Amino acid sequence: MESGKIIIKGGRRLTGKVKISGSKNAALPILAATILIPEKITLTNLPSLLDIQIMLEVLNELGANCEIGIGEVIVNTANLNKYEAPYEQVRQMRASAVVMGALLARFGKAYVPLPGGCNIGLRPINIHLDGLRKLGANISLEKGYVKLSARKLKGTVLYLDYPSVGATENLMMAASLATGETIIDNAAKEPEITALADFLNKAGAEIQGAGSDTIKIRGVTELKSTAWRIIPDRIETGTYIIAAAITKGDILIEEVEFDHLHTVVTKLEEAGVIFEKKDSQMRVHVQKEISPVNIRTMPYPGFPTDLQAQFMALMCITEGMSVIIESVFENRFMHVGELCRMGADIKVDNHTAIVRGVKSLSGTEVNATDLRASAALILAGLAAKGETQVAGIYHLDRGYEHIEAKLTELGAQIKRIHSKETLFEGE
Ligand code: EPZ
Repeated sequence: MESGKIIIKGGRRLTGKVKISGSKNAALPILAATILIPEKITLTNLPSLLDIQIMLEVLNELGANCEIGIGEVIVNTANLNKYEAPYEQVRQMRASAVVMGALLARFGKAYVPLPGGCNIGLRPINIHLDGLRKLGANISLEKGYVKLSARKLKGTVLYLDYPSVGATENLMMAASLATGETIIDNAAKEPEITALADFLNKAGAEIQGAGSDTIKIRGVTELKSTAWRIIPDRIETGTYIIAAAITKGDILIEEVEFDHLHTVVTKLEEAGVIFEKKDSQMRVHVQKEISPVNIRTMPYPGFPTDLQAQFMALMCITEGMSVIIESVFENRFMHVGELCRMGADIKVDNHTAIVRGVKSLSGTEVNATDLRASAALILAGLAAKGETQVAGIYHLDRGYEHIEAKLTELGAQIKRIHSKETLFEGE
């Protein structure tokens, strides 16, 4: 586990170009979906991230053959010979639970360690299991494992109590090879759901309505080899947009999927950020002072919870008061204490944070607690006076490809130290 730190000398205005990588949250379920297709699958624009590495380890443990190239992988699950997901990997990344539906559809069995919680919440999987049970799975919980078995999955009407992203993905994959038709009502509408459905349809599935509340899946008998390019990462895009805003910079972001960012762009325009779209590029710059804006995180197309911490960092140095409500996860304000160490004025009451902008933040040592909190601390460091040291960068490497190189390219003074390395020479 990377024990290093990221050191940032704040105060630099970001300018120049940055290219967005493939989406972590689109790639993970698509990698899991290769379990449904016992042939060669070529995936391109795959980001090189810790979480992707862990999912590839899961597939290898199950008996798949993964040939890894630069930004691409060829997965062949023809010789898959296990239906038990490895504890070591599931322990490290709860998203590996998304192999459950595919294993059950392929083998009629799936043993998956109960994914632990994480810093942002308990992360239960009750909605996943309720849906799989309704599709015909017998489910028992034994010694920290979920054990599922089903002679044959049978299509039915499913209603999700909450539009869970992971549950929608698991159920869509299980239903793809079930007999008959499955309807998922109150389904998640995230772009990553649509991407998974498009991938499965290209391999021969019959899925309609992905991206809406109601997804209809007509089960087929087999899926075939195909190739697929992973969509750009909308959360990484939002993170760089906020990096430009917080440093009053002027950047050009390449490989942007605007349709995935309507709410984020609307809220940041309200705050005074200027966007100019050109083909798949987006210029982001700031002419005047940023104004405070209130947000409430919601399932897509609402404001994404994965950008809440980054947005809060921006509000910390925005004159006036902003109200940030986190309605998706029960404990996603871990970054508040660390931002306050940098001089931010934030009060938290249950799911509501009241941010009163301060003139400037001051750099100090801070500790990242989860993936998006680490991004928020980096953004705060870019704008803070002096030097910020962010520890716990293991979290960062799970979801941001080459972040120091990309920020350095934009003019930031940022570096990673692993141990006793000196900080900036004579700065
Ligand atoms: C996905 O997590 C993303 N991860 C998360 O991104 C993202 O924050 C989340 O969706 C919401 O958009 C991946 O795609 C790998 P959920 P997931 O199931 O599927 C509750 C990041 O930073 N719930 O939609 O786990 C749950 O506790 C990560 O990239 C149940 O109660 O999210 C949470 O409060 C963090 N029972 C809410 O629903 C269930 O069975 C949303 O969870 C499932 C979920």
